[in-house]
Amino acid sequence: MEHLLNSRARSIQISGIRKFFNEVAKYPNAISLTLGQPDFPTPIHVKEAAIQAIHNNQTVYSHNAGYEDLRKAACTYVFEKYDLQYDFADEVIVTTGASEAIDISLRAILSEGDEVLLPSPVYPGYEPVITLCGAKPLYIDTTSTGFKVTPEQIEQSITNKTKAIILPFPSNPTGVVLEDAELTRLADYLCKKDIFVLSDEIYSELRYNGVHRSIASFEGMREKTFVINGLSKSHSMTGWRIGLLFAPKEILQHVLKIHQYNVTCASTISQAAALEALVNGKDDALPMAREYKRRLDYCYDRLQKMGLKFEKPNGAFYLFISIKQFGLTSYDFSLKLLKQEGVAVVPGDAFSSLGEGYIRISYAASLSQLEIGMNKIESFIKSMT
Ligand SMILES: Cc1ncc(COP(=O)(O)O)c(C=O)c1O
Repeated sequence: MEHLLNSRARSIQISGIRKFFNEVAKYPNAISLTLGQPDFPTPIHVKEAAIQAIHNNQTVYSHNAGYEDLRKAACTYVFEKYDLQYDFADEVIVTTGASEAIDISLRAILSEGDEVLLPSPVYPGYEPVITLCGAKPLYIDTTSTGFKVTPEQIEQSITNKTKAIILPFPSNPTGVVLEDAELTRLADYLCKKDIFVLSDEIYSELRYNGVHRSIASFEGMREKTFVINGLSKSHSMTGWRIGLLFAPKEILQHVLKIHQYNVTCASTISQAAALEALVNGKDDALPMAREYKRRLDYCYDRLQKMGLKFEKPNGAFYLFISIKQFGLTSYDFSLKLLKQEGVAVVPGDAFSSLGEGYIRISYAASLSQLEIGMNKIESFIKSMT
């Protein structure tokens, strides 16, 4: 019966990260520097709020967009932190993780034949949704501009079919962030274009120099931007599945219909936890960010001494390292490293073909694990040169 399935569903691939994980699973003692999630527990006060919600029988559907007090708290949070102004009544949806926010935004925007610009190497969660919509991803090569997309690059790729550009900064897999001047140039350019911007800001609280700014806070950008955020990374809540989607009401009213028929509402127990996180845990990410920075500094130093080439990350918890000098594909390099030294990293081609020639190292691992990992990578590099 497989042949009767939707051809687009058949054509999309399991993610390259998952493919490599299947390989890593054969090496149970390997040091894993692959994690895309924080290695800290969810803050205790957040967990307790969820337990209390269960005891209070907060176990039924909420408003489709989420509990009103949570939507209010979410709007206050992004206003105080990022100077974003949204109305809790009709400009925010509590979603099932940032993943659902990406899915419903793209499905609201895209029709068959449309094009979406993806500055790449890029997180692999966008392309399959674009393909399922019958639209086309167009990858913008950012490997020669420090993994940052510029207006000139967009101008070269934009066509009359372009419906949206995705701006995922701080970036997974590269860890780079856009500085104010870079955002200003992009906003000046994009505000004049008739395309949507999906600003995936899920790593906004994990920034190591300065503070995060959202492109939606720049003049002329609010009306065309979908701001995607959530609690997965800021509050170490990946399994709770709470995302936040902000957009102007004339747009969000249509997205809400897709969300409604898709999931009805996000888990209400998780919503209770998210409310506690956003009201009483506004700065829960700070101690985690401090620890990530310590680990980043350690890894940066070690990898530099090994003579490896990479951009200095300033956000998220990834390092994206060039392995071009070793003459192996990123998959073969990662497999050899795994077999020879027992260290797992993610092959760069999991982040589009523009990630070929790189590996992603996650420092969402303890400093002692990172130390062992770096020692092993060092001896691997020595064996290769
Ligand atoms: C850039 C980016 N966006 C979205 C997501 C998905 O987040 P969530 O777990 O909240 O669905 C991830 C997860 O790793 C990510 O790296």
